[in-house]
Amino acid sequence: MCGIVGYVGDEEAAPILLDGLRRLEYRGYDSAGVAVHENGGLEIVRAVGKLRNLEKALSDKGLGGTVGIGHTRWATHGRPSEVNAHPHASGPIAVVHNGIIENHLELRAELEADGFTIASDTDTEIVSHLIHRETKAGHDMATAVRRALGHVEGAYAIAVASEAEPRRVVVAKSSSPLVLGVARGATYCASDIPALLPYTNSMVFMEDGEIAVLDEDGFSLSTLRGEPVNRRPRKISWSPVMAEKAGFKHFMLKEIFEQPRALEDTLRGRLDRERADVETAEIGLSEADAKAIRRVILLACGTSHHATIAGRYWLEELAGVPAITELASEFRGRDAVVEEGDLVIAVSQSGETIDTLMAAKEAKERGAKVLAIANVNGSAIPRMADASFYTHAGPEIGVASTKCFIAQLANLLMFSIWLARRRGAMSESEAGELVEGLARIPHLVDERLKTTFDAVSGMVREFSGARDVLFLGRGLSFPMALEGALKLKEISYVHAEGYAAGEMKHGPIALLDAQVPVIVIAPKDRHYERVCSNLEEARAREAKIIGVTTAGDTQTQALCDAFVEVAPTHEALSPFVTVIPLQLYAYCVADHKGTDVDQPRNLAKTVTVE
Ligand code: F6R
Repeated sequence: MCGIVGYVGDEEAAPILLDGLRRLEYRGYDSAGVAVHENGGLEIVRAVGKLRNLEKALSDKGLGGTVGIGHTRWATHGRPSEVNAHPHASGPIAVVHNGIIENHLELRAELEADGFTIASDTDTEIVSHLIHRETKAGHDMATAVRRALGHVEGAYAIAVASEAEPRRVVVAKSSSPLVLGVARGATYCASDIPALLPYTNSMVFMEDGEIAVLDEDGFSLSTLRGEPVNRRPRKISWSPVMAEKAGFKHFMLKEIFEQPRALEDTLRGRLDRERADVETAEIGLSEADAKAIRRVILLACGTSHHATIAGRYWLEELAGVPAITELASEFRGRDAVVEEGDLVIAVSQSGETIDTLMAAKEAKERGAKVLAIANVNGSAIPRMADASFYTHAGPEIGVASTKCFIAQLANLLMFSIWLARRRGAMSESEAGELVEGLARIPHLVDERLKTTFDAVSGMVREFSGARDVLFLGRGLSFPMALEGALKLKEISYVHAEGYAAGEMKHGPIALLDAQVPVIVIAPKDRHYERVCSNLEEARAREAKIIGVTTAGDTQTQALCDAFVEVAPTHEALSPFVTVIPLQLYAYCVADHKGTDVDQPRNLAKTVTVE
């Protein structure tokens, strides 16, 4: 996820672009840059790190031009560096981009064969060369953009400037967001509303497959096929602060609602539905490597550790590979056994957690290959690892991890399917069913988010006074029970325990009485009957039961004091749907209690101390 802005008017562009980028910094902040028309050419200024570095570079330059484009980056392809920062130039063309160009490797080879030199590791630079190739053939900027995008597969919102047309910016969109702002004598574009609110509240939301040419008198909008589009600007009534959270009360809630998007971006270009397989060329493991793995050791902390427990179950059940999970802090310094043929998977949203980093390093020193699953491109853990498989959830601002967790689940499942196929552990039809099911998950999650939120909000008043809460699940629902309990603890400060449902009678049952809500995760899977027996055991101790049940499961719902319905899925996919009501339960309790949801006491987003 990145932020893009553009401006055409009669004021100095650089401060307006910089201000817009500051308001979009939540979308990415590892490098930034602008291109401004200046004395007949395009002046490009880029800087690694926070925006203040770009601000410093710009103040040294003193640009006076009144037309330009800007970008704040959240690296997806290529580590954060000045050469990988946007705008990317090719001849007279400069481009900023938010999204992922799926066929960039193929296009890179094609452009190199045409004599273009590609300086960066990014997918975006390819777009600037494609447009340049078209302008060299004599097309104006808008036609060149239209023709160039005809070659591109993937998600994009782009803004383009050309030295040949110094009073215009051309923008286009497919999947990634883009909004235009209209004011007297000035036209703007941005990835999101907050960047534009100080300048105008008159906005146009672009749709997928549309292109617009901006000048100081407004914009002309059409489809990429060339049909004109007539859309009038709408008045937006948001305050800048509300807009940053896109109207949500907290970043955490916004991020819970962004999960369909995080999943879509993480799955994009990786599910091969035709061949019932997963595309993991980016990891760089061969078929032989897949077959040579004797055991997988999954290392992580906190929420990421819960994702690894689901990962372990998938690796064992789907790929037949022995797998263990280790809390990174416990793996360290206790001479854990690492053997030849061990693959270590280090999972970390931030990619910086010191315990995970050091544990993975220790394992590497003892001869294991390390694969990183991280959300932050170029962070410490991917840098030390032998290979990386990134999640694409975009920056997570709320301290309690939600969308990164669901994206980690997606990567762990995709890796398990890939391994299962290479090791002959999964038939084509089994893989086909799973790949199809996984491709539908973003939609299934999206479909129920709002009703789940309403259902959970409606029940918290009754339960939010509880001092202790027990979460129970079996199989893949066990790590979700752990995750539900952790979420509740960290943001609402209510004591909660996640337990394997079968373990309840070995101790925690002693805690149960009418004051203790028990949240039972009971999707219709192979553990269903036994989980229902555990539910009955808790009910017999007068505990209040909140069920997370498959839609239409009236039999279990009749046993619950309250319940939430989740979509029926392939049994291996249930965590993607069962975790949502648990996240929302924690959020609603915390919000009801009035705690600091986004920055809970004593916690930090990235834990770089041991
Ligand atoms: C909880 C949470 C933490 C992190 C843990 C590891 O909501 O976010 O438990 O999961 O600190 O962080 P990463 O994934 O960055 O290694």
